[in-house]
Amino acid sequence: WVTSNSDSDNFLQCLSLFSQPSIPVSKIIYTPNTSSYSSILQSSIQNLRFLSPTTPKPQLIVKPLHESHIQGAVICSKKHGMHIRVRSGGHDYEGLSYMSDIPFIIVDLFNLQSISVNTEDNTAWVQAGATLGELYYRIAEKSRTHGFPAGSCPTVGVGGHFSGGGFGTMLRKYGLAADNVIDAHLVDVNGKILNRESMGEDLFWAIRGGGGASFGVIISWKIKLVAVPPTVTVFRVEKSLEQDATKLVHRWQYVADKLHEDLYINVVIGVENGKQKGERTIQVTFGSLFLGDVKELLPLMEKDFSELGLERQDCIEMNWIESVLYFAGISEEESLNVLLDRVRQSNDSFKAKSDYVKEPISEIGLEGIWKVFLEEETPIMILSPYGGKMSEISDSETPFPHRKGYIYEIQYLTYWEEVTEASKKHIDWIRRLYSYLTPYVSKSPRASYLNYRDLDLGRNNIGNTSYTQASVWGIKYFNNNFKRLVRVKTMVDPSNFFRNEQSIPPLLSWG
Ligand code: FDA
Repeated sequence: WVTSNSDSDNFLQCLSLFSQPSIPVSKIIYTPNTSSYSSILQSSIQNLRFLSPTTPKPQLIVKPLHESHIQGAVICSKKHGMHIRVRSGGHDYEGLSYMSDIPFIIVDLFNLQSISVNTEDNTAWVQAGATLGELYYRIAEKSRTHGFPAGSCPTVGVGGHFSGGGFGTMLRKYGLAADNVIDAHLVDVNGKILNRESMGEDLFWAIRGGGGASFGVIISWKIKLVAVPPTVTVFRVEKSLEQDATKLVHRWQYVADKLHEDLYINVVIGVENGKQKGERTIQVTFGSLFLGDVKELLPLMEKDFSELGLERQDCIEMNWIESVLYFAGISEEESLNVLLDRVRQSNDSFKAKSDYVKEPISEIGLEGIWKVFLEEETPIMILSPYGGKMSEISDSETPFPHRKGYIYEIQYLTYWEEVTEASKKHIDWIRRLYSYLTPYVSKSPRASYLNYRDLDLGRNNIGNTSYTQASVWGIKYFNNNFKRLVRVKTMVDPSNFFRNEQSIPPLLSWG
């Protein structure tokens, strides 16, 4: 797999056969000698942990302006033994879309970002390089009563997000983004463009939650838009430990997945400075989107979660697109155009993990989490309720298996500023928290969410990886669906061309 300069030259020559006269290959290729190479490489990197001078860099970046450039990149890299990484929004938690331990090139879909929304038949085609913010903006431009159930961060790319599941504040009503994908265009390992019909239901199933990177390059998705009411209601209620935050989180676990499906209440836990100098304390925020007005919301809260003490003045009515800004933490003063902004929002390094809870955690268990939290500088934990639509979709409908019986998902992260020796300290901390949570979270398997990628769960060999070895992480993300993903992979990419540290291995590549 060690590629030489002549491999790169041959690759470029080969790629030029796929470019149109109007777009010379020089317009889509960036080498380390190109002045914009570094800024393009860094443009969408979200986790500064992977922006250090020692992070392996690509030999080339191909930035397709046309589908044929993706076909060319696949065919030519296969022919000349180049390893590829595909990047859409660059939000991968472990940097797998722009980093590899073996020589590689990046196919960066940044320029493929067109979106066409059809409110007549409630669908849209979205190219993989578009962001969630762009998608939400284009939907709202056409209608204030259509929406799409995907993640909260506007800069996330739809290429990676939909292919790994994708959830946000409407998942209790409409499920995951992947549950609402109805067609896709993909470049396969032979460089062919396939749609749902020509790829067949197995491959179409695999790319809706199994991670696109194992199966091909997704060019675009066709999605089903969903109905949102003209008025939605949001609230954010903060509680300190003195205000019974522990009891409230404990109680929340018994109601969060059983509330009306129009009501989503998540919990964000962080650490704040206390009243005394040097004192640090736990802060808990209950954040909610309700698909209706405040008149309907208050009685529901009174009936099911009166302990929170929600009052009229805690609530804000708005339309759905404004709620998108609210949950992205963007000021209401900002114009909606901010959703089109692709500039990196994070200036931090981070490490994250995920878990699922099937039995409420005891108050003592929660207090233990607070204790571990106070050992860290900038920890965050987000509890996202399931139930509703999530419980109605079968475990095998898509590769994403965490459905009925899962009360909520936990995501925990720690942030720090610089990539230094200190990184280890933060990573050690989050591993300690993972270990602390063991008795409280799902078991056999201990479930994880692919889009919150965590290489601690296990990684493939640089060479071939056996089914058994990949099962260690694969079962956590996909449970019983892992087997079918391996079958699909074996069928569509037996030579394991599309691979990374956590790609689905084909059976033929048993090492
Ligand atoms: P990126 O381009 O890094 O790709 C991620 C993976 O998909 C890589 O393996 C890549 O090779 C592959 N891939 C990308 N494009 C592809 C294509 N066209 N064809 C084939 N493979 C492709 N999740 C969530 O469910 N809800 C949320 O609210 C959020 N919020 C959030 C906020 C922030 C700040 C971050 C950093 C991340 C999230 N996420 C999230 C997680 C997010 O869903 C996850 O990181 C996605 O994989 C990101 O997709 P991108 O295209 O941006 O990533």
